Amino acid sequence: MSVAKNIIRADVRALSAYHVPDASGFVKLDAMENPYTLPPELQRELGERLGAAALNRYPVPSYVELKATIRKHMGVPDGFDVVLGNGSDELISIVSVACAKPDAKVLAPVPGFVMYAMSAQFAGLEFIGVPLKADLSLDRDAMLAAVRAHRPAITYLAYPNNPTGNLFDLDAMLEIIREVGDSGIVVIDEAYQPFADASFMGRLPDHPNVVVMRTVSKLGLAGIRLGYMSAAAELLAEFDKVRPPYNVNVLTEVTAGFVLDHAEVLDAQAAAICTEREKLAAALAAIPGVTVFPSAANFLLMRIARPGLTGTVVFERLLQSKVLVKNVGKMHALLDNCLRVTVSTPEENALFLDALQSSLTT
Ligand SMILES: Cc1ncc(COP(=O)(O)O)c(C=O)c1O
Repeated sequence: MSVAKNIIRADVRALSAYHVPDASGFVKLDAMENPYTLPPELQRELGERLGAAALNRYPVPSYVELKATIRKHMGVPDGFDVVLGNGSDELISIVSVACAKPDAKVLAPVPGFVMYAMSAQFAGLEFIGVPLKADLSLDRDAMLAAVRAHRPAITYLAYPNNPTGNLFDLDAMLEIIREVGDSGIVVIDEAYQPFADASFMGRLPDHPNVVVMRTVSKLGLAGIRLGYMSAAAELLAEFDKVRPPYNVNVLTEVTAGFVLDHAEVLDAQAAAICTEREKLAAALAAIPGVTVFPSAANFLLMRIARPGLTGTVVFERLLQSKVLVKNVGKMHALLDNCLRVTVSTPEENALFLDALQSSLTT
């Protein structure tokens, strides 16, 4: 018997690690990153700020200044605070650990963001996935029935959803939040909010069981790993106890503070991406045998429906053309033959469209 076999949980040993493909040399359209960098003058100024940062010291764990900057720029309601995470991945993990009472359950529509189920499993919580409808909209009745049957401690609703890109129906979400009541929390995951005209942030004061979770990753700062969540003070105080005290490093703190004070740069980039999204969606919709789904995010989900051709074949042909998208066809039966592509610059989108056209020949 090896040490690993002796001590590591059987369910962990049975897992495969989260796979991130090597993208060097590829047009990288698989991870919903913002393709734009900071303008050179801001890069220089940021470089100076980072050079002067107190790397010899631990961060101040209250993160007072960065939290104030986030509250100011991100529409956090008056009187509400935020808890910071090393990406929203860490926030999902913090929430899971904090709620991991024996027999506690986690509920989310599927297909959805994979970390909800993974974090639940790591924390020893049972995960219940409720399938979306065939048109990928929220199955309101099935969700309400699942809430009644399982009384989940945590219900996740990604708004917009990943990997489908759509915004769920607001009234259905409000009904779910009401049905959960004070027996659980509803985490509204707004990772893609910069590209959507909708948010729950302003509604927080009306819903003591709602947590709004966000990230700066899709906005153009995926490399610094920073997420934040807001909710009623009573909940945040408990989550903060589970957070590792220095989870956001000094370089991230300085960078986020600096860039958010120039938020107009990121906002303009997000607006450009939204314009490109509409152009790319129209171009995809015009290709026979390609169905593109409505998106309020910085990516598009499409289905390949050509006789004799599967999504996987198209994915592999795109790879040969050095274009990396995400093959989501195996994630869930509802996504059969589906690919997810990040919206990028006009140039990269054109490269992708060319490669896609060539890969569709049978
Ligand atoms: C819905 C959703 N939530 C959270 C995340 C994680 O974001 P972060 O980079 O902040 O860990 C992602 C990343 O793709 C996502 O799609």
